[in-house]
Amino acid sequence: MLRISVIGTGYLGATHAAGMAELGFEVLGVDNNPAKAAALSAGQVPFHEPGLPELLAGHVAGGRLRFGTSLVEAAEFADVHFLCVGTPPGVNGAADLSQLYSALEGLVPHLTRNCLIVGKSTVPVGTAEALTARIAELAPEGISVDLAWNPEFLREGHAVYDTLHPNRLVFGVTTPDAEWALRQVYATPIAAGSPVVITNMPTAELIKVSANAFLATKISFINAMAELCDLTGADVTLLADALGHDDRIGRKFLGAGLGYGGGCLPKDVRALIARATELGAGESVEFLRDIDAINLRRRERVVEETLALLGGGHRPSGRVGVLGAAFKPLSDDVRDSPALDVARRLHAAGVDVTVFDPAATVPARAVAPQLVFAATAAAALHEADVVLHLTEWREFRELDPAFLRTVARGRVLIDARNTLDPEPWLAAGWDFRAMGRLVESRAASAPRVAPVVTAYPKPPVVPRQLAAPSPLTRLRARVRRTA
Ligand code: UDX
Repeated sequence: MLRISVIGTGYLGATHAAGMAELGFEVLGVDNNPAKAAALSAGQVPFHEPGLPELLAGHVAGGRLRFGTSLVEAAEFADVHFLCVGTPPGVNGAADLSQLYSALEGLVPHLTRNCLIVGKSTVPVGTAEALTARIAELAPEGISVDLAWNPEFLREGHAVYDTLHPNRLVFGVTTPDAEWALRQVYATPIAAGSPVVITNMPTAELIKVSANAFLATKISFINAMAELCDLTGADVTLLADALGHDDRIGRKFLGAGLGYGGGCLPKDVRALIARATELGAGESVEFLRDIDAINLRRRERVVEETLALLGGGHRPSGRVGVLGAAFKPLSDDVRDSPALDVARRLHAAGVDVTVFDPAATVPARAVAPQLVFAATAAAALHEADVVLHLTEWREFRELDPAFLRTVARGRVLIDARNTLDPEPWLAAGWDFRAMGRLVESRAASAPRVAPVVTAYPKPPVVPRQLAAPSPLTRLRARVRRTA
């Protein structure tokens, strides 16, 4: 059986390593951070991902999965090496590929047998070709090293499921051997029905970034509609439901609200713009700048509305209780988190901000030490003048609005994720506000649409007795006659 190394053990790598062990392989995970490797070796996952701690600890205890810091050891151990290192934003939003290059430089010169290196990290199109050239320079004499690109589509919060049941497998390959090896690695999900797309490496690279750019586009599209809904008294949630019934469109990723964040969508959109511009095709992706701008406007809107509620001007005063810090529920990831961004901006404007998140307090405090973090939702809302619901944790749907009314000082709640049920909040006396969603009690004060001015010519007036009977009139007449 093939032996596998996974280089880089962040969200992607740690989950992939545990997933490969679950599929039956012997796996070595390598990270250049000794503390992270030590924690994983002890079966501890240093981030929040449902189901991963159990899976990982089980395979570490069973001996099929281990972690270390040595790429030399990985070079000797494995037949297939997965590159799962980060490609964070660099200059002008372009991806910084330095971790990929240093992984290859640490690994390839030490290879002792023919092997396959598989890129999983998200990269700008054309990266694999450049890495192939670098591998050729670094490979020891007589050792054949293949490179393939196999992008990862896992969602944080569902990473274990997505790894074991991929909704598609993309293999960017240049040799039949590489395809054969990847089919061995993924034999179980392939047998279970995961579709496989075999292609070249540029297509594989581009599939990943375009998938994320498309998801971002869907979200910003519905958020642009939410802006229109707010102006016209229309309801974006019903609009999204109706669009979603068309299965060419689909309801997923039409959740309007505070917009997207995290370690992937924002950076991948900007990296695609940067790469396309580099290729002289900036115009082709010009619309993605609007996608990004619409997304950032959502945060701005919540900040502005909150500041206006607190007196506006240069001296807003009051307390804001924030529900949520993670970029999405079921995750403790705060990278480019819309929730934390709003909290930080309010604090910078002079507002007292207290945040509660069911999982992300530690990472949030590390990047935003200026904020106050509470241990419970009620504590975060203590004497709050305004309450902001910024990350749609399920827990927040189960809060007791009547109790929270006795805790908070003010009564305005902004549901920036459109996922709370307004009824119990309204019943408890909250001034419930949403984003593009029409809330019952506010419907009366919703803006009225300016009537559309038609440019159609008026139809000629036909004297009543001369008007030809309509088909319906004729049908009625026939029905009456036959009755
Ligand atoms: C994303 C892709 O979904 C995944 O395939 C890829 O491998 C990595 O990037 P992830 O970053 O885990 O995954 O988050 P995702 O579930 O896509 O959500 C991204 C952001 O969009 C979150 O901030 C979420 O709150 C927001 N979102 C999502 C919306 O605002 N509205 C929606 O309808 C859906």
